[in-house]
Amino acid sequence: MAKPRVDAEYLKEIEKARRDLRALISNRNCAPLMLRLAWHDAGTYDAKTNTGGPNGSIRNRQELNHAANKGLETALAFCEEVKAKHPKISYADLYQLAGVVAVEVTGGPTINFVPGRKDSLESPAEGRLPDAKQGASHLRDIFYRMGLGDKDIVALSGGHTLGKAHKDRSDFHGQWTKDPLKFDNSYFVELLRGESKDLLKLPTDKALVEDPNFRKYVELYAKDEDAFFSDYATSHKKLSELGFIFKNHRSILAKGVIGIAIVLTAVILGYLRELNKKTN
Ligand code: HEM
Repeated sequence: MAKPRVDAEYLKEIEKARRDLRALISNRNCAPLMLRLAWHDAGTYDAKTNTGGPNGSIRNRQELNHAANKGLETALAFCEEVKAKHPKISYADLYQLAGVVAVEVTGGPTINFVPGRKDSLESPAEGRLPDAKQGASHLRDIFYRMGLGDKDIVALSGGHTLGKAHKDRSDFHGQWTKDPLKFDNSYFVELLRGESKDLLKLPTDKALVEDPNFRKYVELYAKDEDAFFSDYATSHKKLSELGFIFKNHRSILAKGVIGIAIVLTAVILGYLRELNKKTN
């Protein structure tokens, strides 16, 4: 990830928006919904074509109407209140910042946030987000397409430590953990406990205990919350920055151009010095 390509004034606005988001998310108890918004904006990324990803396109009606996004209009409306106070901030940054703050205010790890995402209204075709009725190979298809791996899949699934499923949104009902407003490792503890009539397990959640390579991370995170927090923070940052590699390329290019300019200046100065010696 490149260093922020934003000016000091933008950074200041980000910090103000962060404070507003903290207050808004705590007051309205909407951390789970905000985290789901950030994930659904980012989770459409396709590494091969560099399309989708955290670019704010989820605010486009066409994308918002995708079946997977049901219920997210409330999260968008909440973000709109913050956008009205800080119009300079891109929607793409705002949604990802909301996701980071949602994790933090519910007691989760601190996630490094680098601003500078550009907005787009170009929405990918429906079908890039995972289908909860499928299993391990589907999860791999979806997350590998984003350029993420098995550890990311398990760590990020731990986001279900927050929130609930709603019959009218996803056709599933229930919560994954006993306290859906506390970010901790209880999602993994409950997964290993097996079926329970009180708590929800989607087919994709069950795949994490059935697949041996996923299961080893589930076992680790269930017994070691620090390991979960550390891996979650890394994977969440990656998710929130999908597609930003191109900025890196530009900054490498910029550094290259500066380097060439320095060498050229040195050569010209040397030549002029030589010329000066000769004419004296
Ligand atoms: C691994 C594949 C995933 C599948 C199949 C999946 C599926 C679902 C489904 C079906 C719901 C219920 C929606 C509703 O009825 O309101 C849901 C909710 C949620 N998901 Fe996921 N999800 C996945 C990954 C993630 C990731 C990576 C995150 C964040 C890092 C996440 C965060 C959430 C949150 C916080 C909620 C609760 C929203 C609320 O309470 O309103 N999910 N997910």
